Amino acid sequence: MERILEPELMEEDSQVLAYAQADFEAENQGFVDLFREYFPEFSEGQVFDLGCGPGDIPIKFARMFSTCRVTGVDASAPMIRLAEQAVAQAGLSDRVTFRCARFQDLPGASLADAAISNSLLHHVPNPLQFWNKLRQLVRPGAPVLVMDLLRPASPEEAQAIVDRYAADEPEILRRDFYNSLLAAFTEDEIASQLARMNLTRLLIDVIDDRHWVVGGIIH
Ligand SMILES: C[S@@+](CC[C@H](N)C(=O)[O-])C[C@H]1O[C@@H](n2cnc3c(N)ncnc32)[C@H](O)[C@@H]1O
Repeated sequence: MERILEPELMEEDSQVLAYAQADFEAENQGFVDLFREYFPEFSEGQVFDLGCGPGDIPIKFARMFSTCRVTGVDASAPMIRLAEQAVAQAGLSDRVTFRCARFQDLPGASLADAAISNSLLHHVPNPLQFWNKLRQLVRPGAPVLVMDLLRPASPEEAQAIVDRYAADEPEILRRDFYNSLLAAFTEDEIASQLARMNLTRLLIDVIDDRHWVVGGIIH
């Protein structure tokens, strides 16, 4: 099945609210736990989260690494508003801050000691822009961890995944999940993106029936 793009930003109020209220506890905590497993030596510095959405991963990351500063980047103003509220509620506003910007427009200035991103890449029309910015953003020797959905082989398979994992979720969330699966990349496409960007030291792992992870050190 060919990739079918979905809108790059999540800006509809109802869509943003449904996403922020959904239960991603296991997935988001799992992502932060995975970062610690991949990079047991990592403990501090400035971390960027690209496509941070409503801020749950930056909060979980800042709790796990208690001296890190996290900058969440998202170009959706309603997402950033919710993220700022969540961080204030968590009492982490001194270490977790946000920028409402497209990641493509960030200065590529080796700013970060690490970078993370979950569920952003499938929104991006040109994925090479993402890998290029990731490399520019971090200093040499910095760890990066990226996770996203895998595109299934057919629309029927995508629907089956939505029914298996989001049976009781609101319709708007089920719609977005389905569209995201159709917009996602296959493992082979990710491998070829990394090869084209000369990022083959980053390793791809397919961790379950609907997610891939790319992790490693940027040189
Ligand atoms: C599916 S959400 C993932 C949110 C969060 N990372 C999580 O795991 O819960 C994807 C987010 O990426 C944002 N986004 C999409 N394209 C972007 C871009 N070019 N620059 C910055 N943010 C972008 C969307 O607005 C949306 O909030």
